[in-house]
Amino acid sequence: MAGRSRGPFVAGNWKMNLGLGEARALARKVAAAASEASPDASKTSAIEKPSGVEAGPELSDCTVVLIPPFTALGTVAAAVAGSAVGLGGQDLFWEDQGAYTGEVSGPMLRDAGCAYVLVGHSERRQLFGETDEMVGRKARAALKAGLTPIVCIGEVLAERDGGRTLGRIDDQLARGLDGFSKEDVERVVIAYEPVWAIGTGRTASPAQAEEVHAHIRGRIRESYGNDTAGCAIILYGGSVKPANSYPLSKEKDIDGFLVGGASLDADGFIGIAREALRAYREEK
Ligand code: PGA
Repeated sequence: MAGRSRGPFVAGNWKMNLGLGEARALARKVAAAASEASPDASKTSAIEKPSGVEAGPELSDCTVVLIPPFTALGTVAAAVAGSAVGLGGQDLFWEDQGAYTGEVSGPMLRDAGCAYVLVGHSERRQLFGETDEMVGRKARAALKAGLTPIVCIGEVLAERDGGRTLGRIDDQLARGLDGFSKEDVERVVIAYEPVWAIGTGRTASPAQAEEVHAHIRGRIRESYGNDTAGCAIILYGGSVKPANSYPLSKEKDIDGFLVGGASLDADGFIGIAREALRAYREEK
């Protein structure tokens, strides 16, 4: 998929939040905003616009993805049907089926309407013991099922303070994308999420984030060449809000965001997407 558009790409990871009613309402608001026509465009949205979402420039140049808990996938799929909003799972297991109680497979996520799946989120790594090797197996299983894996990598505070950030990123990248062909890598999205910035209100500065993003793109260039590096989508995650979306988006290697807390609020999430789009349209 050389030449894949690089952005902006904004994904909302709802984590273990929202019942079905709340999920439906939030997904409808996001779908309405993502499909909203610009004031001068003649096309109209097929999605009924719920109240409470401010009008603004259309988001049609922005890839918008919602990542609800498994229990809400069907509800959210129905709520965004007919819109441009994509759907993702928060995790998957690498086997397609079998006696794996509690797990969900790539083909099951496809069946539920997903085109994306998170792999190796830091909460999976820290709370549920996922290793770099498991992350690689999951990313491969996602590709095999026709899903785009959003592979999450990032250092913990002790690694940053100890000057080991880029080394840790190299390890996670090498093991997470182990054995991947150039074509495989061109279907992957990478999310750089410094663990110390997730849910803490402490965001990496644009310069701190760009240093790591440029490093990741450089590693992809070394291993897979210029074209693949040029179309690699590299998201930033960690306390992203509308107010920091624009300055982060101005950095040349930041292609969008993986948003946690702020994605639970339609206006906040849409605001992040609009600010990313504003930076993109101004050209970096
Ligand atoms: P946060 O989460 O935006 O709440 O920091 C980001 C993430 O975990 O992906």
